[in-house]
Amino acid sequence: MVDYKMIRRQAESLAEESADYIPVMANVSALLFYTLPDINWAGFYLVREDSLLLGPFQGKVACVRIAKGRGVCGTAWAEDAVQLVPDVHAFPGHIACDSASRSEIVVPIHHQGNVVAVLDIDSPLPGRFSEEDKEGLAALAEMLEDIIRW
Ligand code: SME
Repeated sequence: MVDYKMIRRQAESLAEESADYIPVMANVSALLFYTLPDINWAGFYLVREDSLLLGPFQGKVACVRIAKGRGVCGTAWAEDAVQLVPDVHAFPGHIACDSASRSEIVVPIHHQGNVVAVLDIDSPLPGRFSEEDKEGLAALAEMLEDIIRW
């Protein structure tokens, strides 16, 4: 069982030296990538005008821009809602950055009431993410919203 409370505590202490979004997102990507079992990508996309721009991540190279409403990430932004996708092949418009990815979760991150980024995690296992992961990652995102300096 993943200890999301511990992940939040570690992320918080990593942000003590600087809460600038670049080192925080870089370290949170590494923390998640090396803590969560059975994942092959963990990172952030940043809202830049009308599209998402690739931010700090761990995993294989990924697409640089995603239009609003496109793929799982663009949908999480457009709908301002967590996307828990048990089977990416069944998600209309899914963008396959790594063909090994089978399931995915994307969590929006807000600043001053707007979505400013999304946290994206991919797994090579179908149905990898549970309601517990959804709650844990949503709580992590809320914590990041409180501490990150943009
Ligand atoms: N699969 C995502 C694209 C980003 S990669 O997974 C890193 C999507 O459909 O939005």
